[in-house]
Formats: sequence, structure tokens, C-alpha cells
Amino acid sequence: MVNLKGRDFLKLLDFTSEEIEYLLELAADLKAKKKAGIPHRMHEGKNVALIFEKTSTRTRCSFEVGANDLGMGSTYLAEGSQIGKKESIADTARVLSGMFDGIEYRGYGQELVEELAKYASVPVWNGLTNEFHPTQILADFLTIKEQFGHLKGINFVYMGDARYNMGNSLMVGCAKMGINFTACAPKKYFPDHDLVDTCKAIAKENGCEIKFSENPTEAVKDANVIYTDVWVSMGEPMEVWKERIDDLMPYQVNQKLMDAAADDVVFMHCLPAYHDHKTKVGKEIGERFGCDALEVTDEVFESERSIVFREAENRMHTIKAVMAATL
Ligand code: CP
Ligand code: NVA
Repeated sequence: MVNLKGRDFLKLLDFTSEEIEYLLELAADLKAKKKAGIPHRMHEGKNVALIFEKTSTRTRCSFEVGANDLGMGSTYLAEGSQIGKKESIADTARVLSGMFDGIEYRGYGQELVEELAKYASVPVWNGLTNEFHPTQILADFLTIKEQFGHLKGINFVYMGDARYNMGNSLMVGCAKMGINFTACAPKKYFPDHDLVDTCKAIAKENGCEIKFSENPTEAVKDANVIYTDVWVSMGEPMEVWKERIDDLMPYQVNQKLMDAAADDVVFMHCLPAYHDHKTKVGKEIGERFGCDALEVTDEVFESERSIVFREAENRMHTIKAVMAATL
């Protein structure tokens, strides 16, 4: 019987396949309850702190709505708090532990959320660091389960910068859940060797493969899921855009790539996505570098094979499950 009470949720490497499966089943149950209008205020009267040192739409809203549905209050801390400026992470952890029942943290290095968890006496949840985005992976896997009915044996291809939070966490999650993972990008965008070795060992135990390719058409042959993320992440300087576009444009998810995959292929993206010129940054980058779309074309993003908005909704159900299970 899985029991996660009191546990932090910092990265998927800290969790067994059974524990991840438990969180996915709990999320599916909470989603069904929400759809049926069945109250699930199982943490009535508790409070959670939500620290955001980077911007967010999905993650913040998921924690706030999830907390509210569980009967809890939430406090958003961003610009204007003392964290990391006048007060250390260690002191912040001890202050907030006296007032809250759980703490979410979105920030830069993974070591910061690990430090927060070390000094906090309540569960700490990683809402995204440069290295890992574990709550996103739970939403992605719930969505894949809903789409295909299972996770084991799915062929999953990640296109683009695979060295950052999304590539790293998806590789770990796939290894844990028996999903065949391929990262497709120029070699310099492959994940760190040590993490690859760790994931290959985990994958072996779970009967799946971790592979790397520089050839998009070959990589997506038999793919059930094609996934991508922005080419430049939060916190990275604008100057890297030119190099990223030069390197990664051949790895853009477009219709030709989707056509080269399995018949049942779906497109996924953690969002936000640069698929048109309708956003301020998308417009600026598109005009400056003369491209219509970046990591994914509008055609694919808006197609019936794209399940990105169900994936986004599932952020809330899975984040709620993490809070429900660990508090
Ligand atoms: N996918 C994701 O984490 O979105 P936000 O940055 O909007 O939270
Ligand atoms: N890699 C992206 C993920 C956003 C959810 C970033 O860190 O900005």
C-alpha cells in the first residue's frame, strides 16, 4: 500500500514506479470527482504557500484551484517577498513551516528547492526548476493514459532542447513507467551523461529503452507521442535565440514530421508554445529571425492530433493529487 504522507515532491527520481502510478490513479479519481461535482475537501482548514521566482499560468492556477478544491487556503509569494533577497532559502523554509502545511517552489537551480525541503518541516513541491519539472510529467502521463489506455510500451519522442527541465524529467518519467523514450536533437542538446546512465539503468528494469537521434524522420517512425518545448527557457538570455533557431529549426514539429509517425500519433507540449506571432515574444522573435513558427507549427498545434489543452487541464488534477497525497 503506497503512503506518501509527509513526503516532498522534488523530482521523479525520488519516487518508485508504483508511487508514480498511485499519484496518476489518485489524479484520475479526483478528476472524476470534480467532473461529477462530488466535493473532496479532504484537507479542510490547511494552508499552502506558493513561491514563484519565475512566471507561471498553469502551475500557479493548478496549485490555487487544487488547494481550494481540497478545502485549503493558498498564499502566492513572488515579487515583493523577501525570499532570496533579504532572506535566505533556509530561513524562509523555517518561517513558512510555522504558518503553512505545504510549500510549492518555482525557481532556478534544483539545489534551491532541495535546500528549501531540507530546512522545511512540511512537504515541499517542485513547481519547476532549471533541471526538473516533475508535476508537468504527471499531467503528461495522465493525458497519455487517457489517450492510449496505458503507458507501458508507448513510443515517446521528445524533439528539441533535451538538456533542460522538460527533456530531463520526461526521460526520467519514461524510464520509470516503461515508456520508450527518444530525444531527437543535435548532440549538444542531449541530456547530461550521468542522468542518461541512471535512466538507462532504470529503463532496463522496466523493460523500455532510452535512445538518442539526430535524424527527425527516423526518430519519429512508430512514435505514438511527439512532444516539444520552447527552445529558450525562462531565465535564459535573449541572445541565445539565434543559435537555438539555427540549431533546432530542422527539429521543428510540423505536419511532415507528424505524417512520418504512427497513425495514432498525438502532439503534446507543456505550454506556453510559440506556434504563431500572436504573443509579444513570439512576434518579436518571429520578425527578428524571419520564421513563421518556432518549435511547432500552427497547423500541428491546432490540429485534431494536438492534445495540449487536455494536457494543460490535467496539470490541475495531478497537482491536486500531489498535495492530497503528501499532506
Ligand atoms: N507548463 C507550465 O509549467 O506552465 P506555466 O509556466 O504557465 O506554469
Ligand atoms: N522549459 C520551459 C518549460 C516551461 C513550462 C521553461 O523552463 O521555461
